Amino acid sequence: MDIQTLFGLEGKTALVTGGATGIGRMAAEALVRAGARVLIASRKGEACEAVAKELNAMGASGSAEGFAGDVGTEDGVDAIVAAVKERTDRLDILMNNAGITWGAPLGDFPFKAWDKVMNVNVAGLFDLTQKLLPLLRANATIEDPARVVNVGSVMGEREMGDGAYSYSASKAAVIHLSKILAKELAGDAITVNALAPGPFVSRMTAFATHDEEMRNKEINNGRFAMICVLGIFGAELATGKDAMQQFGM
Ligand SMILES: NC(=O)c1ccc[n+]([C@@H]2O[C@H](COP(=O)([O-])OP(=O)(O)OC[C@H]3O[C@@H](n4cnc5c(N)ncnc54)[C@H](OP(=O)(O)O)[C@@H]3O)[C@@H](O)[C@H]2O)c1
Repeated sequence: MDIQTLFGLEGKTALVTGGATGIGRMAAEALVRAGARVLIASRKGEACEAVAKELNAMGASGSAEGFAGDVGTEDGVDAIVAAVKERTDRLDILMNNAGITWGAPLGDFPFKAWDKVMNVNVAGLFDLTQKLLPLLRANATIEDPARVVNVGSVMGEREMGDGAYSYSASKAAVIHLSKILAKELAGDAITVNALAPGPFVSRMTAFATHDEEMRNKEINNGRFAMICVLGIFGAELATGKDAMQQFGM
């Protein structure tokens, strides 16, 4: 059996939130290379369109489309759902990757850093998933389920505050929510799994990864793309799991 038979995604449609940068960009590329039609959405619509153009220029069997979308508000989520419905009547893969962080020392951690982070990382992820359920159910079968992949973090599993209190708590919520949704959606042939990456160089961690040693670990980014893809494909037989993968620091 060849790799395309095992991991090919011809005919599948995916949505990757935050797909223009970092992990989302890597996952979007891997999905396009595997043959999927990939929708990319984040607040910076032009960046999403530019990345989609780059991915389409790779000459891979899949394709990409980028558009603006904000998962941090209910109106924003509704607009993403409408934009997805304009483009497709079914969704095979939803990668809830968009995320933000906030860092401040204990004693000075601001109250506002809670709703901002929780809205994007948890409420937006949940609301987008529930509003896309009709599309996720549309083509899902027990033999070939639809996949929801939520990006958590090792910080949601281990006692790593590092000044990112609301972020760590939000990622623990993502992991737990993934298990709850996995249980509830198993009967609809939708798997729900969480990735729990360890720290690696991206725009989000730029403030903490400015030294040369960390930048040299960028090689791990490529490895992470593979983990994302394996997480998505491997999810066929798994649901309610969180894959912790730690490297970089
Ligand atoms: N880097 C790490 O060490 C690490 C470790 C564990 C987990 N993670 C998780 O991995 C995911 C991706 O992060 P990354 O490291 O790749 O950093 P990143 O490059 O900053 O990616 C975050 C993405 O989320 C998008 N985004 C932020 N707010 C949004 C909103 N309100 N609506 C829609 N999109 C929004 C951003 O695009 P716009 O600015 O255009 O909206 C950006 O593309 C996050 O969930 C993060 O928590 C990262």
